Amino acid sequence: MTIRLGGILVGLIISGILVLWSLLPGIFNYAPPERPDYYAFQEKNIQPEGGFSFDGPLGRWDYAQLQRGYQVYKEVCSACHSLKFVAFRNLEQLGYTEPEVRAEAASWQVPGIDPVTGEATTRPGEPTDYFPSPYPNEVAARAANNNAYPPDLSLITKARKDGSNYVYSLMQGYNEVDPADLAKSPEFETPAGLYFNEYFYNINIAMPPQLYPDLVTYADGMEATPEQMAQDVTAFLTWTAEPSLVKRKQTGWSVIGFLLLATALAFLSYKQIWAGMKPKKK
Ligand code: HEC
Repeated sequence: MTIRLGGILVGLIISGILVLWSLLPGIFNYAPPERPDYYAFQEKNIQPEGGFSFDGPLGRWDYAQLQRGYQVYKEVCSACHSLKFVAFRNLEQLGYTEPEVRAEAASWQVPGIDPVTGEATTRPGEPTDYFPSPYPNEVAARAANNNAYPPDLSLITKARKDGSNYVYSLMQGYNEVDPADLAKSPEFETPAGLYFNEYFYNINIAMPPQLYPDLVTYADGMEATPEQMAQDVTAFLTWTAEPSLVKRKQTGWSVIGFLLLATALAFLSYKQIWAGMKPKKK
């Protein structure tokens, strides 16, 4: 008996020492991550007034807004950014009818093959085609953009922290450098060909400012202010990244409802099964 107990104790002590041994270097060498200078320029993302329609547990798509956002993407962003994971037929989810989607697809030129010579050409898009890339390859994209690469936007709101608010902020972040920040980092400068943007991780971004008042003429007559366009294109890019976002939230509610019902039923059947039993007399 005592030998067994001793064995267990020794085992515990040895494992304890091993655990400490593995943890100690980490504890002693821990240093908080160093914050690069440009942190001084970074602030929290801004949000549209009242938030996005799809925010929160009861969030919904604003279909008119998604359609406006698509218009901004088509008329502005698509000059440099692809949307390779989205097909034209997906636009039906934004409330376009089938003939409208067909017409919309046909208004884009997608890569094709000349039926006679077999050479690469372009042809009008079909609903089953995916959005075409504005450049044939990355080298061409970089050559046209001061060696920066305009990323595909299909998943961008998922690929960045607080993605929707980030894209919304980025589109409107081409402000002046705050003199107080400049005082903290006097060596800061924006090289030629780049633009100061306080929301971009590198502070200086290769994308020129995009949104100017009345840049697009909205089909639904909404006034095209930069805030409006930023909000609309962000909503559209949130949809491209997660088309099932609203459905997911709604499913959550029905799942909770079902679980509550199942709990009530389980409780009632428990009552029913034990109804005939009397507690033992003490
Ligand atoms: C003239 C070409 C051009 C147009 C038009 C353009 N962009 Fe860009 N965009 C760029 C380039 C270049 C980059 C890469 C910037 C960098 O790496 O410094 C970029 C980067 C981005 C990024 C990624 C930032 C990050 O965190 O990496 C987002 C988001 C973006 N653009 C959104 C948009 C939206 C929305 C529009 C339309 C309203 C748009 N862009 C129009 C050239 C463009």
